[in-house]
Amino acid sequence: MIGERILRFGTVTSTQDVAAEMAATGFPHGGVIVAEAQTAGRGRLGRAWHSPPAGGLYLSILLRPRVEPALLPLLTLAAGLAAADSVQALAGCAADLRWPNDVLLGGRKCCGILPEMAATADTARVKHVILGIGLNVNQREFPPALAAEATSLAMVSGQEIPLDTALALLLENLETRYNQFVGEPSLLPPEFESRSSFARNRWVLVENGGSRFTGVTEGLDSAGFLRVRRDDTGIIEPVLAGSVRPA
Ligand code: BTN
Repeated sequence: MIGERILRFGTVTSTQDVAAEMAATGFPHGGVIVAEAQTAGRGRLGRAWHSPPAGGLYLSILLRPRVEPALLPLLTLAAGLAAADSVQALAGCAADLRWPNDVLLGGRKCCGILPEMAATADTARVKHVILGIGLNVNQREFPPALAAEATSLAMVSGQEIPLDTALALLLENLETRYNQFVGEPSLLPPEFESRSSFARNRWVLVENGGSRFTGVTEGLDSAGFLRVRRDDTGIIEPVLAGSVRPA
């Protein structure tokens, strides 16, 4: 069960690194690493995750799903939905989802999720997934480079929230959504779509490594990929990775 084992640390490089070490020593499915601060917190697409002490929740969850790697985009959506469920309940207002799993309040990001997978040598099966989650809970300000894009639950709700309250709710919602991923994964793309203002009829800029294009979103496919009708070719392209922003 997610959250049955929780290991707490002070300052670490990244909870992802600690979780990877623990995975090799038989740490159980659903085990959680939480840190007060990170010196090398990382985000998607090689970005850094600002992780000072106080205010932020930094955690990594070890998952051992018995599935093929091709199903993992749906796990990413499930994690985004769990985070959005939690943010909404804690902040007391509607949260938006930006594919694949950023949670936004008032158009600014308050939660990011980094799934890192280890596969078997033949790549046919998932060995484990480490789901890293950074949730901005009680920060009242961000460094200038992030200020226009980031927000916290406290900045939106005007109230401080104990980090342990946020952690407990997040883990409970993750357990629920993980069970949905295992039992009824086909429900995840339509639900994500209904909770995301980015999923349909949004003109977006898609960036992935060297590739960059604009287009209009046309929902998610059954594998969890975002369908974008490219402005340049008029063809729908399933976006498998990368960042999606308003164009
Ligand atoms: C993103 O939006 O780019 C994903 C951010 C993920 C940040 C979290 S904080 C806890 C865990 N440890 C890390 O180094 N990264 C994730």
